[in-house]
Amino acid sequence: MSVSSTTTLQSAEKKVRLNDSLTNQQEKLDIEPLEGYDFGAVVKNIDLTKLTKGQFQQIEKALFTFQVLCFRNQHNLTPEVQFEITHQFDPATSTYGHGDEAQKQENSILHPDLHTLKTVPQVQLIGHGLVKNHYGIKEAHLRHPHHRTFHRDPISLKDEANGVTRFYRWHIDAALYHYNPPVVTTLHAIQVPQGPKQLLRYDDGTGDELHVPLGTTAFASGYKMFQLLSEKDKKVAARTRVQYFPHPYITISNAKALPNGLGMYTDGLELPKAKLPEWSEDKVKTLPLLWKNPVTGMLALQVHACCAEKLLIDNDDGTTTIIDDLSKVREILYNYQRPGIAPKLVYCHDWKADDFVIFHNRGLIHSVVGVFKDDQTRVFHQCNLAASHTPEGPSD
Ligand SMILES: [Fe+2]
Repeated sequence: MSVSSTTTLQSAEKKVRLNDSLTNQQEKLDIEPLEGYDFGAVVKNIDLTKLTKGQFQQIEKALFTFQVLCFRNQHNLTPEVQFEITHQFDPATSTYGHGDEAQKQENSILHPDLHTLKTVPQVQLIGHGLVKNHYGIKEAHLRHPHHRTFHRDPISLKDEANGVTRFYRWHIDAALYHYNPPVVTTLHAIQVPQGPKQLLRYDDGTGDELHVPLGTTAFASGYKMFQLLSEKDKKVAARTRVQYFPHPYITISNAKALPNGLGMYTDGLELPKAKLPEWSEDKVKTLPLLWKNPVTGMLALQVHACCAEKLLIDNDDGTTTIIDDLSKVREILYNYQRPGIAPKLVYCHDWKADDFVIFHNRGLIHSVVGVFKDDQTRVFHQCNLAASHTPEGPSD
């Protein structure tokens, strides 16, 4: 835990406490599942600035049941409250998911997208356009991640002008080196530009496409991904662990992604380990491929395929088969994950100003989507915390 995050935690705790007793709002939450999806819900008629402990317990259970919760009209929600709600899901940690400010690395592909709030350093300012005098940040030129910077074969400028877009990068919010994957991520929409829907093309040979709201966040269920595996693959997946690259976002900083954002091309562009910043074996993350839901016990296929280096498959005889051919690793993970991002399975959130979304980072993968014009300003606050514990794998 860094000194700055400790200080902020203490000050946040002073400012924000969940109420022990009933407030004037209804204690029992009004939860409405999304229609047409087997995950997601909207929680109605609640002001999160007046959240009680009893209500938080309901939210926690609902989150692990529905994986993504949207609370509309959270106009007064401060970064301190956002941090405290995020913190309640894992009270033993207060470190931002990718570590603290000092550990930000300029050659990481995540670096340009994160601006740390000075008042609550676990909360990041993200979005698009010029933002001034914002919670201690004098000026930030935000940039909505554009698939052109990451995909090997981007869509043409002509198609883009006609409103065609892509999934940017399917991922779990996680450093995947040194730090444990956060349990939840919270997103608060402060300013949301309006515009026509865009046509999201997969461009992966399937002809799949989706009509999506401008600047949507796309979510796909890891539970569904697991359920869609063959019985044989389910058994192998249950015995598989994924070893991630050291400094994964630096390792892949020159490599390029597939057109549907679900993984990488293997063109030999990964940075060799000798060219990485200092790293050590004990900080390399090896995580189960299947993560158990703490409430339902269901298994989610959870992997950040772009950052995976090896697969370790534990055999019945006590030996371990190691797959370290990068193209093979990526092919296996792609075949496991691709059915789960079929258009009808992807939930694309239609952001409105003052939306507060909590998603289960250990049960879903998600992707940035869309392209904004220069005059379209988007302001969001994002918070997640490097977890105090690793994800639990299958028990047998
Ligand atoms: Fe993310």
